[in-house]
Amino acid sequence: MAQRCAHPVVPVALLLFGLVAILLLTVPTEDVQEAPGFMYGIVLDAGSSHTALYIYKWPADKHNGTGVVTQHSECHVTGGGISSYVGQQGAAGQSLKVCLDQAVKDIPKEKHQLTPVYLGATAGMRLLHISNPEQSAQILQEVGHKIQSYPFNYQGAAILSGQEEGAYGWVTVNYLLENFIKYGFVGRWFSPGKPTVGALDFGGASTQITFATQEEVEDVQDTMKLRLYGQEYSLYTHSFLCYGRDQVLLRLLAHLVKSQGYSESVEHPCYPAGHSRTLNLNRIFNSPCTTKYRPSSYSPRALLTVQGSGHYERCLANVSEIFSFDSCPFSQCSFDGVFQPNVTGRFMAFSAFFYIHSFLQRITGITVNTPSQLQEATKRLCRMNFNQMLLLAPDQKTRLQDYCASSVYVSVLLLRGYSFDETSFPQISFQRKAGDASVGWALGYMLSLSNLLPAERVGLRKALTPGAWGALIFLFVLLLTAVLIFILLRVHDGKKKGGSESTI
Ligand SMILES: *[C@@H]1O[C@H](CO)[C@@H](O)[C@H](O)[C@H]1NC(C)=O
Ligand SMILES: *[C@@H]1O[C@H](CO)[C@@H](O)[C@H](O)[C@H]1NC(C)=O
Ligand SMILES: *[C@@H]1O[C@H](CO)[C@@H](O)[C@H](O)[C@H]1NC(C)=O
Repeated sequence: MAQRCAHPVVPVALLLFGLVAILLLTVPTEDVQEAPGFMYGIVLDAGSSHTALYIYKWPADKHNGTGVVTQHSECHVTGGGISSYVGQQGAAGQSLKVCLDQAVKDIPKEKHQLTPVYLGATAGMRLLHISNPEQSAQILQEVGHKIQSYPFNYQGAAILSGQEEGAYGWVTVNYLLENFIKYGFVGRWFSPGKPTVGALDFGGASTQITFATQEEVEDVQDTMKLRLYGQEYSLYTHSFLCYGRDQVLLRLLAHLVKSQGYSESVEHPCYPAGHSRTLNLNRIFNSPCTTKYRPSSYSPRALLTVQGSGHYERCLANVSEIFSFDSCPFSQCSFDGVFQPNVTGRFMAFSAFFYIHSFLQRITGITVNTPSQLQEATKRLCRMNFNQMLLLAPDQKTRLQDYCASSVYVSVLLLRGYSFDETSFPQISFQRKAGDASVGWALGYMLSLSNLLPAERVGLRKALTPGAWGALIFLFVLLLTAVLIFILLRVHDGKKKGGSESTI
């Protein structure tokens, strides 16, 4: 009799307890019970060539984990960067209006006052600060006033240093890839122990390289120690001012003008053959990045004719002359006497790196994953004439003349400058976005300034409620007892029946 009752009941009970236990493990975490609203934060990325506004959001009750803060929306200001409005009273502030108005609509009204807004300016303003500190201060003040006329919680407008720009880009990349900590399905944060990914950023006026390294960084200027989620990260970061896309193009032009004896017409080996343009000398020489090429005297209004010759080898030689590879005061350098440890691990290359890489692949049909593919694609691009390019990329008309130069520059920078090789180059992923978020310094900047990145260990964040834990332990004890009783019963039965297996 006993065996007929015990056998159907015990397995069913086991099954039930198991199901309940699993349910308890997954369901009653804190956030499910509270179902909170979102918090928002705004970052204005005031770059040298344009300004972008990013809105981020996170659940109000939790913000300490990676992947918790996501991008809500973005808005791109039309026209130039804020530094381009120098001398036009009020224009820099006014330029932000459309995107700030958009932010007012994108964020629920009741959250406006709680939404921090940060403006960070980068290399364009760094350059303006060098050439004219009063004007740069005035522009910052002006954009600050403009933002303060909105209902958000204004947190200031600042010019980021090159190191900050590099480090915040690195934080963004690794936050989005969830390399710091990860939320596990059993309801707790854990360190995934994944290696971090280096960041390669390429703006209009500067370029940054940042990666974690075990090697000694011989120049303290280029080190950065970060403590995030209880982990210590030792970073190498360097920002090269005047090595952004627009400034490189200007420096290349200035170099050509100077090396061709400041004549009124210059040959440009990186422009498509047969393509020509005219511009004012002032356009080239009013940047602090071209001072060393500037003639002792010139008429700013004087016109210069630039004649393309589409000659890859000469283009490569001239672009290489923009860099200085000769002297290095350290054991090894990237260029211009700047120390760099060996690149290591995976990298994400974003901003203009992404645009140039994808243009190169699109127009040549070559998949660019290795150094030789990069060189092959660049060579092929530089030998195209303007109309061939136009046919393949009509949407890029105004920029077509510059792609050969910027592609050659990218290959010299990555392969010869940073020394990416056959092994390390394929480790670079060219991306504009990770998930729904744009990759850049903005997210890392907001995370850091609004204390959304704890320095110490997060431990059992998002753990089960104490009540749920109690119930869970009680159930497990019951389960164990049931299993024990079940086994005892079987042993007992087995003895009685002389070891027969027929009861199963
Ligand atoms: C986030 O972490 C900080 C300190 O690391 C802590 O004070 C704060 O309460 C945490 N916030 C949440 C929502 O868990
Ligand atoms: C740079 O370009 C000019 C114009 O095409 C060319 O004459 C010159 O030889 C190039 N420089 C080098 C070092 O090849
Ligand atoms: C860096 O790379 C070079 C060339 O691959 C190698 O000889 C050198 O030992 C490396 N340095 C370190 C510190 O690993």
